[in-house]
Amino acid sequence: MSVKSFSGFSPILGKEVWVDPSAVLYGEIKLGDDVSIWPMVAARGDVNHIQIGARSNVQDGSVLHVTRKTENPPYGYPLIIGEDVTVGHKAMLHGCTIGNRVLVGMGAIVLDGVVVEDDVMIGAGSLVPPHKRLESGYLYMGSPAKQARPLNEKEKAFLSESADNYVRLKQKYLEEQA
Ligand SMILES: CC(C)(COP(=O)(O)OP(=O)(O)OC[C@H]1O[C@@H](n2cnc3c(N)ncnc32)[C@H](O)[C@@H]1OP(=O)(O)O)[C@@H](O)C(=O)NCCC(=O)NCCS
Repeated sequence: MSVKSFSGFSPILGKEVWVDPSAVLYGEIKLGDDVSIWPMVAARGDVNHIQIGARSNVQDGSVLHVTRKTENPPYGYPLIIGEDVTVGHKAMLHGCTIGNRVLVGMGAIVLDGVVVEDDVMIGAGSLVPPHKRLESGYLYMGSPAKQARPLNEKEKAFLSESADNYVRLKQKYLEEQA
């Protein structure tokens, strides 16, 4: 497993975490319980920190990075991902804050300072420009991403179901690869 220390920090993994052996994690990264990190994910907690909440999944080929601390803003842009979040294949999350029960569509790009509130769906291939705030309960899509419509009840339920499905899937991987 490529879980490597950098600059005095080592990734901290919660219980029952699955990190595919082809993924690379560097530095100040904290993964909650039951998180899954899928093939070819690259995550660098080198110039700031990355935190991923319990039961979230980061799918194949996604890139996670952060922006360093400067005079302004003094804390830079860490990457904070909430609980029960699904990050679709080949997404790029950079220095943003993602709430709980969010689905980041495949290939979406989310830039520094973005705040995604809880229960949001971001369509595949969307680009979310710096510092945008995505409101809870809505679908956003496009480049630049725009609020498309409110999520219906089935879609809201799916946000948690998607995370649950990935918790079950990673459990099978943990068992089979043990
Ligand atoms: C956005 C999404 C949820 C579909 O929403 P929807 O409201 O059911 O959309 P529809 O399929 O009815 O399409 C409505 C319109 O949006 C467009 N559209 C659909 N998905 C889009 C997307 N990701 N970006 C931009 N436009 C999109 C359609 O072309 C259609 O346009 P039109 O009215 O001009 O023909 C879906 O396309 C999507 O992107 N899901 C993400 C899946 C994913 O990445 N999962 C994670 C990995 S498992």
